[in-house]
Amino acid sequence: MKKLVIAGPTPLRGEVSISGAKNAAVAILPATLLINGVCRIENLPNISDVSLYCDILQALGAKITWHNKNEITIDTRNINCNADIIEITRKFRASYYLIGSLLGRCGSVRVGLPGGCKLGARPIDLHIKGFESLGATTTISQGNIHATAKKLVGTSIYLDIASVGATINIMLASVLAEGTTIIDNAAKEPHIVDVANFLNTMGADIRGAGTDMIKIHGVKELKGDATYSIVPDQIEAGTFMLAAVASRGDIIIKNCISKHLESITAKLIEIGANVEEYGDSLRVWCNQRPSKAVIKTLPYPGFPTDLQPQMGVVLATADGTSIINEGIWESRFQYTAELNKMGANIMDQGKSAVFDGVESLVGAPVYSTDLRAGAALIIAGISAHGITEVYNLEHIDRGYENIEEKFNSIGANIKRVLED
Ligand code: EPZ
Repeated sequence: MKKLVIAGPTPLRGEVSISGAKNAAVAILPATLLINGVCRIENLPNISDVSLYCDILQALGAKITWHNKNEITIDTRNINCNADIIEITRKFRASYYLIGSLLGRCGSVRVGLPGGCKLGARPIDLHIKGFESLGATTTISQGNIHATAKKLVGTSIYLDIASVGATINIMLASVLAEGTTIIDNAAKEPHIVDVANFLNTMGADIRGAGTDMIKIHGVKELKGDATYSIVPDQIEAGTFMLAAVASRGDIIIKNCISKHLESITAKLIEIGANVEEYGDSLRVWCNQRPSKAVIKTLPYPGFPTDLQPQMGVVLATADGTSIINEGIWESRFQYTAELNKMGANIMDQGKSAVFDGVESLVGAPVYSTDLRAGAALIIAGISAHGITEVYNLEHIDRGYENIEEKFNSIGANIKRVLED
């Protein structure tokens, strides 16, 4: 079993560069299936979710050439619509984007129902409602979802919840549909804009991404023959911002988009940390104990749920009693039991948690329960006194490129160890 052994506390100091966005990459890779041609993708994060997606694309007949660990060319001229991808698609959540893209490309798709981080029920009813409004028929049996459509025809779709996945999936299914599709109450996260920009670069006609109404004018074909660079990862950048504050450090975060990080910047300034913007870099520093805060996670541009556990580490040692209300997922406080093993004083009930700030954390063996919980435990280990061992690294490796190398380059002391 692999674990990270972290010796702390080490205030983080120096410069770190942000990789391409995981949640854009896992949508852009399946989006390549809509292209009858070749495209080049740059700034692709080197994470296990991306390699899994590349395996799926290759199983479907795509030809992939790696230029280096972050740049690939994908040739999707010859796709085998009947390839069996059920088992491999069960392995992660973002495989649901194959439904939209293969419906568009092949008119038929069968995938395993998505796995991924256990954050609650995670239904995909809004995705299905969207596909059916476009003319598809869907059936679920034996843990698989089968969708078919003789023809997809554009229509107006109102999302009851501004779901990231449903917005992207409906966008994918409607790019090659006949006529115009309107997604109302669409999600506005930066990676939605990035997927739309990618598709437009390849020949699609999508307008309004980043607002709550997206219009997709169906086109006959995506020719590709273009290069696209994935947007910097908002959540990775936010993770380093919060690590700087939790460790009482001073770091420059390069290759990030400060506009995407405004909700985090505002909260950090409110609790007494410092943030300065310089073009595509941010300096974040904090040399005293931050003050308490009340946080509610919300869809973009609100405070992101994917930074809630990392913010929880900051509040675990803040001065006073803080409250976090989780507005997106039912089970996103599993990390609090692990932080309590490190001396934190957190009580959670349902979608709220109360953080009674302690002076400092103490190292302990802890288990990451999902991707962002894993990132939070690493930050806790860097900030805590003594040795922290973080287990279940497969969650962390799904979504963070070279995480220990990046933290070590700014002063952390983290070793990846294979335990007998
Ligand atoms: C995406 O998940 C991200 N995953 C998640 O990131 C992120 O936490 C989430 O968006 C919210 O920002 C990817 O992009 C691959 P949603 P997604 O559909 O698309 C409910 C991470 O750590 N809902 O916006 O699955 C749902 O239960 C991961 O990187 C329905 O009820 O999230 C939730 O309460 C974890 N029916 C809310 O909507 C549906 O059909 C928002 O979910 C779809 C969603």
